[in-house]
This record gives sequence, structure tokens and C-alpha cells, in this order.
Amino acid sequence: MLESKLTGLQEQAAAALDQAPDAEALEAIRVDILGRKGQLPTLTTQIGKSMGKLPPEERASLGKLMNAVKQDLESRYEARKAAFERAALDLRLNAEWLDLTLPAPGTRPGTLHPLTQIQRELEEYFNSLGFAILDGPEVEDEWHNFDALNIPATHPARDAQDTFFVEGGLLLRTHTSPVQVRAMEKFGAPLRIVAPGRVFRNEEVDASHEHTFYQLEGMMIDKDVSIGHMLYFLKGLLQSIFHREVTVRLRPGFFPFVEPGFELDIQCLLCGGSGCPVCKQSGWVEQLGCGLVHPNVLRAGGIDPEQWNGFAFGLGVTRLVMMRYGIDDIRHLAAGDLRFLRQF
Ligand code: DAH
Repeated sequence: MLESKLTGLQEQAAAALDQAPDAEALEAIRVDILGRKGQLPTLTTQIGKSMGKLPPEERASLGKLMNAVKQDLESRYEARKAAFERAALDLRLNAEWLDLTLPAPGTRPGTLHPLTQIQRELEEYFNSLGFAILDGPEVEDEWHNFDALNIPATHPARDAQDTFFVEGGLLLRTHTSPVQVRAMEKFGAPLRIVAPGRVFRNEEVDASHEHTFYQLEGMMIDKDVSIGHMLYFLKGLLQSIFHREVTVRLRPGFFPFVEPGFELDIQCLLCGGSGCPVCKQSGWVEQLGCGLVHPNVLRAGGIDPEQWNGFAFGLGVTRLVMMRYGIDDIRHLAAGDLRFLRQF
């Protein structure tokens, strides 16, 4: 009688435990059956009280059965509970799963500023022809920016109207030409250098003028350097930037540090020379200043003009960038507007 009560409870409890729909229901069943005041302890206490009346062998087998039932139900409970825990963990791992080998989302690779891109292309071109790439100070002295370049004290460029002077007799360099002088002082002849960099002028800013812009200076000193040599390098430079055949022309131009001095024009790439708004109907666009280095400049750099000569040029890199990409306002280049910069 007690025995069948016990096996009845076992059957019913086993089914309830095995079929508990979730961890919460399982816990409720545990409390109901195995808890301190649950069905099993209650029945066991009841059985314990009446055990004294039974013959010893029945007592022993009943005792064994009680233990077996308790162990069976407890292990079913543990198994079910472990199953729920595993399922919960799986769920969480699935939700939090992360592939660390995927590229990180959300970062957007930057691009080089168009000025930097063109500067690097220019450097590569000249490097491949044996020119060293030099840097010079942006804060210069008057000797390197003017005197050594044969620019007399009376020259208008030396006026505060055009040049930013700073304390201690220094100034913000108005062109990259002073690097010519520094290169001659440091390396002597023969010499092949280019010097890209920022220059500064006291200008009213508008669509085509900035107080800060970029130039590339070049100088080659050797024996019997001719205008033909100069044209070879300058034409190659323009072709490497515009990626096509270009036609150039030289016009006389005055720069105190070269003699003869020239302005080099390029036949307009937009209209092919027939005339358009970009070339102001002339068919030609001014690109750079150049010439054969003035003997006074060689002397100022410590080089004997009886033995050596050379050419020099100064290119407006900012201007070149605007030409190449058809940028109509110089102010875009320094505005830091990503909508503009991301186009390059
Ligand atoms: N320094 C000149 C300027 O800023 C450009 C220039 C012209 C540089 C002729 C040169 C040159 O080396 O030979 O306008």
C-alpha cells in the first residue's frame, strides 16, 4: 500500500520533471515534490512513522525503494535543469556571437589631399631622374629668401605689402627658391634637387589667390647645361602630371635669379589651343617660371660660375592641382570640407 503510493508518486513526478516546459516550471515542480515540505518528504515521513510495524525484511526493501525513488527524481531534476541551462547558454552565445576576423564596420578609409597626391607624383618623377627631394625652413632669413637670389633691397617683393615679416629679421618665405641657395651651400656642384613646400604672401584672398600655397622648386647644376636640358625635364614633368602629350612654349620673363628668364606656358588642355574661358581665349596657360641660374646666385651659393652653370624653375603646385582637376576656387583646397576632399 505504502509502496504503491511511493511508486505512484515517482511515476507522476518523473513525468512532470521530464516534461517541465521551462526552468521556472521545473523549479516549481522541484519545490512541490522534492522541497522540504514537498510531496516526497511528506510521504517519506509518513512511511517512516509506520515502518516500525513492518517485518524487518519488508522494512529494508521499503527503505531501499525510498532511497531509489529520491535518487531517481533528483537525478531527473538535475538532468532537466542542465538541459535548460545549456539551451540558455546556446541562445546567449548565438546572440552575442562575433566574428573577430571580419573587417571593422563604420571606419571609412581616408584619402590623400589632392595637393599631397600631386606633390608625391612630382617627387616620384624627379626622383626617377636622379633629383634629391629637399625640405627648407618656412621661416626664412632675408639672405636666403632675397639677397642670395639676386633680389635687391629695392625690389617690390621685399615690401611689407607683399611679405609677412616676423620678429628677429626673419620672414615667412615667399617662394621655395631659398632652398636652391641652401642646397648649393650644403652640397655644392654638381647638383640636382627639387624642393616642394608651402609659401606665404601677404595677399588679399579670392578665388585665385591665397596667403598660403604650394610650390615646387627645382635646380640642376652641371657642366654646359642648356635651355634644351631644362625643356626636356619641364616638358616631362607636365606630361607625367597630365598623363598626355603637351605642347609648351617659352616667353621671356623677368626673375632676378635667372638670366635668361622665362615663363613656360602649356597649350590649353581643354580647347587644344583654339581658345576657351580657361585659357582666356589665348590658347595658352602659364605654368611656371624658369631660366638659367644667374651667376650672382651661383656665387652666393659658393659655386664658381666659370666652371658650372645650371637651370632652375619654380612651379605653382596649387595652380597645377587646380588645372588638373578643374577646381575653380583655390579656397576649396584649404577649407577641410570632406564633401570636397572625398572626391579625390
Ligand atoms: N620664385 C618664383 C616665384 O615664386 C618662381 C621661379 C621663377 C622660380 C623662376 C625659379 C625660377 O627657380 O627660375 O614666382
